[in-house]
Amino acid sequence: MRIFIDSANIDEIREIHSLGFLDGVTTNPTLVAREGRDYHQLISEICNLVEGPVSAEVIAMDYQGMMREARLLAAIHPNVVVKIPLTEDGLRAISSLRKEGINTNATLIFSCNQAILAARAGASYVSPFIGRVDDISYDGVALLKDLIEILDQYLLDTEVIAASIRHPMHVTAAALAGSHICTVPYAVIKQMIKHPLTDAGIERFMNDWKRVF
Ligand code: G3P
Repeated sequence: MRIFIDSANIDEIREIHSLGFLDGVTTNPTLVAREGRDYHQLISEICNLVEGPVSAEVIAMDYQGMMREARLLAAIHPNVVVKIPLTEDGLRAISSLRKEGINTNATLIFSCNQAILAARAGASYVSPFIGRVDDISYDGVALLKDLIEILDQYLLDTEVIAASIRHPMHVTAAALAGSHICTVPYAVIKQMIKHPLTDAGIERFMNDWKRVF
């Protein structure tokens, strides 16, 4: 499973990139708005920092607007993947962008049927939001498993990005489910690195060493 960071913060992305395992970046309007910076400039900086897909979302909700924004976003860098919300206009845009050779990430996916339609329309990626499914007392990981089984069964070449990750066990569950990618917020990546027994082990090794040398 490839690891993306779900962030639009350059410092966070730079720090995690330096650890050597980062395969890509996803952003969304909330994350970009938090930075308060020029959108296209920010996406360009992220693309120049990380070698891998960088998802940038359209703000328009109508087909023509989505197409206009998507073309501008895709022109920023070859690694830009245009994030399109799963609506009727979104499906039309995904299909047209596929024909233009622009990669898309179908976002705000909350059901297997939405993922099937996005994949058939030509989305390069689908992003089920597992945390937000858990938030309304349904099982986000169960949705992820079903969705992967369906896409695998029909050999659809769309890749699954497990998104809306809230804690480290979501990442483990996504890996066990066979998700191609998991996009993880900065704070959860930091939690994944830590283990109390690693800290205790380091302390014991250092103390034993210092006693003799
Ligand atoms: O980037 C999309 C997704 O990961 C958002 O997560 O935590 O806002 O549900 P969250």
